[in-house]
Amino acid sequence: MSRKLDILYSVAADGAELAARAADYIAERATAAATAHGRARIAISGGSTPKATFALLGDSTQPWRRAMPWDRLDLWWVDERCVPPDDRDSNYRMTREALLDRVPLQLEQIHRMRGELEPAEGASKYEAELREGFALGNTGIPHFDLVQLGMGPDGHTASLFPHTAALHETRSLAVANHVSAKDAWRITLTLPVINRAADVFFLISGKDKAQILKEVLLGTHDPERLPSQLIAPQNGILTLLLDRAAAALLPETGKGSMGTIARI
Ligand code: 6PG
Repeated sequence: MSRKLDILYSVAADGAELAARAADYIAERATAAATAHGRARIAISGGSTPKATFALLGDSTQPWRRAMPWDRLDLWWVDERCVPPDDRDSNYRMTREALLDRVPLQLEQIHRMRGELEPAEGASKYEAELREGFALGNTGIPHFDLVQLGMGPDGHTASLFPHTAALHETRSLAVANHVSAKDAWRITLTLPVINRAADVFFLISGKDKAQILKEVLLGTHDPERLPSQLIAPQNGILTLLLDRAAAALLPETGKGSMGTIARI
Protein backbone atom coordinates (compact mmCIF):
# COMPACT_ATOMS: atom_id res chain seq x y z
CA MET A 1 0.00 0.00 0.00
CA SER A 2 1.71 3.20 -1.10
CA ARG A 3 1.63 6.21 1.20
CA LYS A 4 -0.13 9.45 0.21
CA LEU A 5 2.50 12.03 -0.63
CA ASP A 6 2.06 15.79 -0.82
CA ILE A 7 4.69 17.26 -3.14
CA LEU A 8 5.20 20.97 -2.54
CA TYR A 9 7.30 23.01 -4.93
CA SER A 10 8.46 26.60 -4.92
CA VAL A 11 9.87 28.29 -8.00
CA ALA A 12 12.63 30.89 -7.81
CA ALA A 13 13.22 33.34 -10.66
CA ASP A 14 16.80 32.15 -11.28
CA GLY A 15 19.73 30.21 -9.85
CA ALA A 16 20.83 33.00 -7.50
CA GLU A 17 17.38 33.31 -5.93
CA LEU A 18 17.16 29.53 -5.72
CA ALA A 19 20.48 29.34 -3.84
CA ALA A 20 19.25 31.96 -1.37
CA ARG A 21 15.97 30.11 -0.83
CA ALA A 22 17.87 26.86 -0.26
CA ALA A 23 20.21 28.55 2.21
CA ASP A 24 17.16 29.88 4.05
CA TYR A 25 15.59 26.41 4.02
CA ILE A 26 18.69 24.73 5.41
CA ALA A 27 19.40 27.40 8.04
CA GLU A 28 15.79 27.43 9.27
CA ARG A 29 15.58 23.66 9.62
CA ALA A 30 19.02 23.25 11.11
CA THR A 31 18.21 25.90 13.72
CA ALA A 32 14.83 24.33 14.48
CA ALA A 33 16.39 20.88 14.95
CA ALA A 34 19.25 22.17 17.11
CA THR A 35 16.73 24.08 19.24
CA ALA A 36 14.32 21.15 19.50
CA HIS A 37 16.76 18.37 20.36
CA GLY A 38 20.24 19.83 20.65
CA ARG A 39 21.66 18.61 17.33
CA ALA A 40 20.99 19.21 13.65
CA ARG A 41 21.87 16.13 11.62
CA ILE A 42 21.89 16.90 7.92
CA ALA A 43 22.77 14.85 4.84
CA ILE A 44 23.77 16.73 1.69
CA SER A 45 24.19 15.73 -1.91
CA GLY A 46 26.93 16.54 -4.36
CA GLY A 47 26.94 17.40 -8.03
CA SER A 48 26.95 21.03 -9.14
CA THR A 49 23.58 22.46 -8.10
CA PRO A 50 24.16 22.77 -4.34
CA LYS A 51 27.53 24.55 -4.76
CA ALA A 52 25.99 28.03 -4.88
CA THR A 53 23.91 27.32 -1.77
CA PHE A 54 26.90 25.96 0.15
CA ALA A 55 28.90 29.06 -0.85
CA LEU A 56 26.17 31.31 0.60
CA LEU A 57 26.10 29.30 3.85
CA GLY A 58 29.85 29.75 4.19
CA ASP A 59 30.04 33.41 3.18
CA SER A 60 30.90 35.57 6.20
CA THR A 61 29.34 38.63 4.49
CA GLN A 62 25.95 36.85 4.24
CA PRO A 63 23.35 36.31 7.02
CA TRP A 64 23.22 32.52 6.74
CA ARG A 65 26.70 31.84 8.13
CA ARG A 66 25.74 33.65 11.33
CA ALA A 67 22.32 31.93 11.44
CA MET A 68 23.58 28.36 11.19
CA PRO A 69 24.05 26.40 14.47
CA TRP A 70 27.52 25.18 13.44
CA ASP A 71 28.44 24.04 16.95
CA ARG A 72 25.41 21.71 17.07
CA LEU A 73 25.56 20.46 13.48
CA ASP A 74 26.54 17.02 12.17
CA LEU A 75 27.14 16.96 8.44
CA TRP A 76 26.68 13.72 6.51
CA TRP A 77 26.63 12.90 2.82
CA VAL A 78 23.82 11.36 0.77
CA ASP A 79 26.30 9.88 -1.65
CA GLU A 80 29.86 10.00 -2.93
CA ARG A 81 31.79 9.05 -5.97
CA CYS A 82 34.36 6.29 -5.36
CA VAL A 83 37.31 8.60 -5.81
CA PRO A 84 39.85 10.13 -3.40
CA PRO A 85 38.65 13.17 -1.39
CA ASP A 86 40.87 15.53 -3.40
CA ASP A 87 39.64 14.23 -6.76
CA ARG A 88 37.85 16.82 -8.89
CA ASP A 89 34.80 14.52 -9.00
CA SER A 90 34.61 14.18 -5.21
CA ASN A 91 31.44 15.51 -3.58
CA TYR A 92 33.45 16.01 -0.42
CA ARG A 93 36.00 18.16 -2.29
CA MET A 94 33.23 20.31 -3.78
CA THR A 95 31.74 20.80 -0.31
CA ARG A 96 35.12 21.48 1.30
CA GLU A 97 35.93 24.19 -1.24
CA ALA A 98 32.46 25.79 -1.18
CA LEU A 99 31.71 25.44 2.52
CA LEU A 100 33.90 23.44 4.91
CA ASP A 101 37.04 25.55 4.52
CA ARG A 102 34.99 28.60 5.56
CA VAL A 103 32.92 27.49 8.56
CA PRO A 104 33.75 26.43 12.15
CA LEU A 105 32.93 22.71 11.96
CA GLN A 106 35.18 20.34 13.89
CA LEU A 107 36.51 17.22 12.18
CA GLU A 108 34.25 14.98 14.26
CA GLN A 109 31.19 16.87 12.95
CA ILE A 110 32.07 16.07 9.34
CA HIS A 111 31.12 12.54 8.30
CA ARG A 112 32.80 12.01 4.97
CA MET A 113 32.09 8.94 2.85
CA ARG A 114 35.47 7.42 2.14
CA GLY A 115 35.44 7.17 -1.62
CA GLU A 116 39.12 6.27 -1.64
CA LEU A 117 38.42 2.83 -0.19
CA GLU A 118 37.19 -0.23 -2.04
CA PRO A 119 33.49 0.60 -2.64
CA ALA A 120 32.07 -2.16 -0.45
CA GLU A 121 34.48 -1.28 2.37
CA GLY A 122 33.68 2.42 2.09
CA ALA A 123 29.96 1.65 2.27
CA SER A 124 30.27 -0.67 5.26
CA LYS A 125 32.45 1.81 7.13
CA TYR A 126 29.83 4.49 6.48
CA GLU A 127 27.10 2.19 7.72
CA ALA A 128 29.12 1.60 10.89
CA GLU A 129 29.63 5.35 11.33
CA LEU A 130 25.89 5.94 10.90
CA ARG A 131 25.08 3.29 13.47
CA GLU A 132 27.54 4.80 15.92
CA GLY A 133 26.63 8.42 15.18
CA PHE A 134 22.91 7.80 15.65
CA ALA A 135 23.42 5.30 18.50
CA LEU A 136 21.50 2.65 16.56
CA GLY A 137 23.26 -0.52 17.67
CA ASN A 138 22.83 -3.26 15.07
CA THR A 139 19.31 -2.30 14.08
CA GLY A 140 17.36 0.86 13.52
CA ILE A 141 17.41 3.53 10.85
CA PRO A 142 18.99 6.99 11.25
CA HIS A 143 16.49 9.80 11.61
CA PHE A 144 18.05 12.73 9.78
CA ASP A 145 16.62 16.16 10.48
CA LEU A 146 17.17 17.21 6.89
CA VAL A 147 18.20 15.50 3.64
CA GLN A 148 19.07 17.59 0.60
CA LEU A 149 18.75 15.79 -2.74
CA GLY A 150 19.50 16.65 -6.33
CA MET A 151 18.09 15.08 -9.49
CA GLY A 152 20.06 14.00 -12.50
CA PRO A 153 18.82 14.42 -16.10
CA ASP A 154 18.22 10.64 -16.08
CA GLY A 155 15.92 10.86 -13.06
CA HIS A 156 18.44 9.54 -10.53
CA THR A 157 18.84 10.96 -7.07
CA ALA A 158 21.53 10.30 -4.51
CA SER A 159 23.47 7.58 -6.31
CA LEU A 160 20.26 5.66 -6.95
CA PHE A 161 20.58 5.38 -10.71
CA PRO A 162 18.08 3.78 -13.09
CA HIS A 163 18.14 -0.02 -13.19
CA THR A 164 20.80 -0.35 -10.48
CA ALA A 165 20.90 -2.73 -7.55
CA ALA A 166 20.76 -0.04 -4.86
CA LEU A 167 17.15 0.78 -5.78
CA HIS A 168 16.10 -2.48 -4.13
CA GLU A 169 18.24 -2.27 -0.98
CA THR A 170 16.04 -2.24 2.10
CA ARG A 171 18.34 -3.57 4.84
CA SER A 172 21.63 -1.68 4.62
CA LEU A 173 21.89 1.99 5.51
CA ALA A 174 24.58 2.66 2.90
CA VAL A 175 25.70 0.57 -0.05
CA ALA A 176 28.19 0.53 -2.88
CA ASN A 177 26.35 0.85 -6.16
CA HIS A 178 27.83 0.13 -9.58
CA VAL A 179 26.55 2.53 -12.21
CA SER A 180 27.15 0.83 -15.55
CA ALA A 181 26.00 3.92 -17.46
CA LYS A 182 29.01 5.73 -15.97
CA ASP A 183 31.21 2.64 -15.59
CA ALA A 184 31.75 3.86 -12.05
CA TRP A 185 31.15 2.91 -8.43
CA ARG A 186 29.31 5.11 -5.97
CA ILE A 187 28.50 4.97 -2.25
CA THR A 188 24.93 5.98 -1.43
CA LEU A 189 22.46 6.16 1.41
CA THR A 190 19.62 3.77 0.80
CA LEU A 191 15.93 4.59 0.39
CA PRO A 192 14.87 3.52 3.91
CA VAL A 193 17.33 6.07 5.34
CA ILE A 194 16.35 8.91 3.00
CA ASN A 195 12.61 8.31 3.44
CA ARG A 196 12.95 8.15 7.24
CA ALA A 197 14.20 11.75 7.43
CA ALA A 198 12.11 14.44 9.12
CA ASP A 199 12.47 16.69 6.08
CA VAL A 200 13.58 15.82 2.54
CA PHE A 201 13.96 18.43 -0.16
CA PHE A 202 15.13 18.40 -3.74
CA LEU A 203 17.23 21.29 -5.02
CA ILE A 204 16.91 21.39 -8.81
CA SER A 205 18.01 24.03 -11.28
CA GLY A 206 18.29 24.48 -15.04
CA LYS A 207 16.34 23.80 -18.19
CA ASP A 208 18.03 20.43 -18.70
CA LYS A 209 15.99 19.14 -15.72
CA ALA A 210 12.56 20.39 -16.89
CA GLN A 211 11.55 17.34 -18.93
CA ILE A 212 12.75 14.73 -16.45
CA LEU A 213 11.16 16.61 -13.57
CA LYS A 214 7.82 16.61 -15.38
CA GLU A 215 8.12 12.87 -15.99
CA VAL A 216 9.06 12.16 -12.38
CA LEU A 217 6.26 14.25 -10.92
CA LEU A 218 3.49 13.94 -13.48
CA GLY A 219 4.39 10.89 -15.57
CA THR A 220 3.58 7.23 -15.03
CA HIS A 221 5.07 5.54 -12.00
CA ASP A 222 8.21 3.85 -13.32
CA PRO A 223 10.81 3.93 -10.53
CA GLU A 224 13.26 1.58 -12.22
CA ARG A 225 13.60 4.19 -14.94
CA LEU A 226 12.89 7.20 -12.68
CA PRO A 227 14.41 6.46 -9.26
CA SER A 228 13.50 9.92 -7.92
CA GLN A 229 9.92 8.61 -7.82
CA LEU A 230 11.01 6.37 -4.93
CA ILE A 231 11.55 9.36 -2.65
CA ALA A 232 8.48 9.32 -0.42
CA PRO A 233 9.28 10.61 3.07
CA GLN A 234 7.41 8.83 5.86
CA ASN A 235 5.94 12.15 7.03
CA GLY A 236 4.07 12.36 3.72
CA ILE A 237 5.63 15.60 2.56
CA LEU A 238 8.26 16.18 -0.12
CA THR A 239 9.54 19.66 -0.90
CA LEU A 240 11.15 20.80 -4.13
CA LEU A 241 13.07 24.04 -4.45
CA LEU A 242 13.27 24.82 -8.15
CA ASP A 243 14.25 27.63 -10.44
CA ARG A 244 11.97 28.78 -13.25
CA ALA A 245 13.97 26.91 -15.89
CA ALA A 246 13.65 23.56 -14.14
CA ALA A 247 9.95 24.17 -13.37
CA ALA A 248 9.08 25.24 -16.93
CA LEU A 249 6.86 22.18 -17.61
CA LEU A 250 5.08 22.13 -14.26
CA PRO A 251 1.76 23.84 -13.46
CA GLU A 252 2.29 27.51 -12.66
CA THR A 253 2.32 28.37 -8.96
CA GLY A 254 0.60 31.49 -7.69
CA LYS A 255 3.09 34.34 -7.13
CA GLY A 256 4.92 33.70 -3.87
CA SER A 257 3.03 30.46 -3.19
CA MET A 258 3.92 26.79 -3.43
CA GLY A 259 2.65 24.48 -6.14
CA THR A 260 1.26 21.19 -4.88
CA ILE A 261 1.00 17.78 -6.47
CA ALA A 262 -0.71 15.03 -4.52
CA ARG A 263 0.47 11.49 -5.18
CA ILE A 264 -1.51 8.54 -3.89
C1 6PG B 1 26.11 13.25 -7.23
C2 6PG B 1 24.86 13.72 -6.56
C3 6PG B 1 23.72 13.46 -7.49
C4 6PG B 1 23.27 14.82 -7.92
C5 6PG B 1 22.54 14.77 -9.23
C6 6PG B 1 22.32 16.19 -9.76
O1 6PG B 1 26.96 12.62 -6.60
O2 6PG B 1 26.23 13.60 -8.42
O3 6PG B 1 24.67 13.43 -5.32
O4 6PG B 1 22.66 12.73 -6.99
O5 6PG B 1 22.44 15.38 -6.91
O6 6PG B 1 23.36 14.05 -10.14
O7 6PG B 1 23.58 16.73 -10.04
P1 6PG B 1 23.71 18.25 -10.55
O8 6PG B 1 23.35 19.09 -9.39
O9 6PG B 1 25.17 18.35 -10.93
O10 6PG B 1 22.78 18.40 -11.70
